[in-house]
Amino acid sequence: MAEVTQITTLDNGPFIVKGAVEVLDAQGNLFPSEREVIALCRCGGSTTKPFCDGAHAKLGFQSAERALGQASVEG
Ligand code: FES
Repeated sequence: MAEVTQITTLDNGPFIVKGAVEVLDAQGNLFPSEREVIALCRCGGSTTKPFCDGAHAKLGFQSAERALGQASVEG
């Protein structure tokens, strides 16, 4: 079985990314990270964007969507 990178949406918190990934800004510049697990900000309040710094908790960020079915995104 091939290894896959896993992205989990935390209720009221960040995206947790497990596995090899490169995070780039809009200009294609790399945000370096040596970690195998990273948390990406979803609330917009982090001072270390694109990474989560825990600010979502202080801001009271709320988002707990559930997948409605199997989605297929290819491109
Ligand atoms: S999701 Fe954690 S600081 Fe934004």
